[in-house]
Amino acid sequence: MSATLTATEAAIRLKGVTKAFGTGDSKTLALDNVTLDLPYGELVLLVGPSGCGKTTLISIAAGLLDPTAGEVEVLGKNLTRMSGTRKVKFRGQYIGFVFQQYNLLPAMNAVENACVPLLIAGWSRARALEKATEVMLKVGLGNRLKSFPNQLSGGQQQRVAIARALVHDPKILVCDEPTAALDAASGRTVMGLIKEVALQEDRAVIVVTHDSRVYDFGDRIVEMADGKVGKISTLTPGERFEHT
Ligand SMILES: Nc1ncnc2c1ncn2[C@@H]1O[C@H](COP(=O)(O)OP(=O)(O)O)[C@@H](O)[C@H]1O
Ligand SMILES: [Mg+2]
Repeated sequence: MSATLTATEAAIRLKGVTKAFGTGDSKTLALDNVTLDLPYGELVLLVGPSGCGKTTLISIAAGLLDPTAGEVEVLGKNLTRMSGTRKVKFRGQYIGFVFQQYNLLPAMNAVENACVPLLIAGWSRARALEKATEVMLKVGLGNRLKSFPNQLSGGQQQRVAIARALVHDPKILVCDEPTAALDAASGRTVMGLIKEVALQEDRAVIVVTHDSRVYDFGDRIVEMADGKVGKISTLTPGERFEHT
């Protein structure tokens, strides 16, 4: 299937994006002229060996990192031309992040952790708690609202991190190796949630992984090697995980 999308279908468009780190002998070309469109309503897996540029690619796509060359368009806005302050606001409003490390605040309980993006956005504590509780129910943690991170398993902590990433209804969810620290069963629970709770028609979901145990959750698989995007494939319904 063709990977070309029309402007309205693409949530993220990278055009000729290059990213170099360092200079001279220590120069690394983390991304080498990458052109890629990522759609709404699909779970895109970005796969490839360690060091091939996956984290760099999603960091640029999410406006956390500026490219050395090329253009980045997210939700129809050109990030390359956006000021730093506007970019921070744009990220806070439209993008959710999940990392390998759950990065929960140890002194806050689970539902308070899930509230954080709303508190940053200026919501009252009462409204934020109400919204976060809703999302915590969706990720199956309605019975662990008041638990502290150290009272939760890795899989449960990652589910809190997913709730936190979704609490402000982002248009884009970016996950960097979300199952890398989890056992197989918890990894599949986490990917199942990303697919069933996070994925919506009007949301783009990108998951970086080299965990082949969860490849069947992807709708589209983008393979990277040496800073370049290679094969892009879509899984057939038979190959794809379907929620029952
Ligand atoms: N901040 C940085 N400074 C210097 N080199 C970096 C930095 N971030 C990434 N790199 C290099 O860029 C390449 C791609 O890294 P990365 O995007 O993290 O790969 P992946 O996520 O696929 O493992 C690697 O060679 C890495 O060492
Ligand atoms: Mg990485």
